[in-house]
Amino acid sequence: MDLKISGKKALMAGGSAGMGRATAERLAEAGVELYISARREERLLHAAREITAKYGNTVTPIVADSSTDDGRKTLFAACPDPDILAVTIKPPDPNGDFLAVTPDMWRESIETALLGPIEIMRHYIPEMKAKGWGRILNIATFSAKNPMIWRLMSGPARSALINYTASVSREIAPYGVNINNILPGMFATEGSEENIAPYAEAFGLPLDPDVIAEHFQQHNKIPAGFAANADDMAPMAALLCSPLSRYIVGQNIVIDGGQHHSIF
Ligand SMILES: NC(=O)c1ccc[n+]([C@@H]2O[C@H](COP(=O)([O-])OP(=O)(O)OC[C@H]3O[C@@H](n4cnc5c(N)ncnc54)[C@H](OP(=O)(O)O)[C@@H]3O)[C@@H](O)[C@H]2O)c1
Repeated sequence: MDLKISGKKALMAGGSAGMGRATAERLAEAGVELYISARREERLLHAAREITAKYGNTVTPIVADSSTDDGRKTLFAACPDPDILAVTIKPPDPNGDFLAVTPDMWRESIETALLGPIEIMRHYIPEMKAKGWGRILNIATFSAKNPMIWRLMSGPARSALINYTASVSREIAPYGVNINNILPGMFATEGSEENIAPYAEAFGLPLDPDVIAEHFQQHNKIPAGFAANADDMAPMAALLCSPLSRYIVGQNIVIDGGQHHSIF
């Protein structure tokens, strides 16, 4: 399918690994001029080199933390006017006892999972509106709609994010700028490997993506029968970043193999 985004400028904020990297690859394959950012330089540069080698695109890596003012300044300076903006940010680690969650932990969750994406969108929206076209995608979490007691540092801030985008997307759709969110379930990615590492020994798990996927499946009874890898969400991400999604506004697409029991 031709996504009709060849030649457009795309920023994948959080594009060196996991679902961000998989999304960046689908956008590169469709012919965009690509910018990818992340906090860790070595993996980011490696991803940029690999994507260029695979698809031939210009890929500009930007070392920047999307959750801080300084990081966002770096991002905005390096990529001033993308047509397509996709954002993912890692929230704080899973919490233990909910009674042990402190105000500082909430502040960190809000800085990363809520204010980070909002501030990046707020910066780029005026230029997209002026151009009369833009696509914005947040890769958030299914716990925004499906609360989990051990994911208080991720779900509540993302519930607020999808509430924000529900309103803002209706304001800017008349200008050809659409915001949508993907809410992923359990995916075997570098990020989930990092989350699970401290517990791997207790579970007797080697840190292998296939073993982690099997573990996710067994513990979450995913109706699809498997835990996904990042390529299972990237085609939807790329579609939402394209003109083909012109009638999809302010939506939250849950991609979780059916784990989340809900009609909407
Ligand atoms: N994997 C799952 O099972 C799962 C389930 C539900 C929701 N999610 C959500 O889906 C999103 C993607 O998860 P993933 O598993 O694909 O993560 P991942 O494998 O860790 O990849 C995340 C990417 O974003 C970058 N990143 C993270 N925080 C950043 C920040 N503050 N500033 C700039 N770049 C940042 C990472 O690089 P650096 O670390 O170098 O910055 C990396 O490139 C996350 O928001 C996660 O909470 C994942």
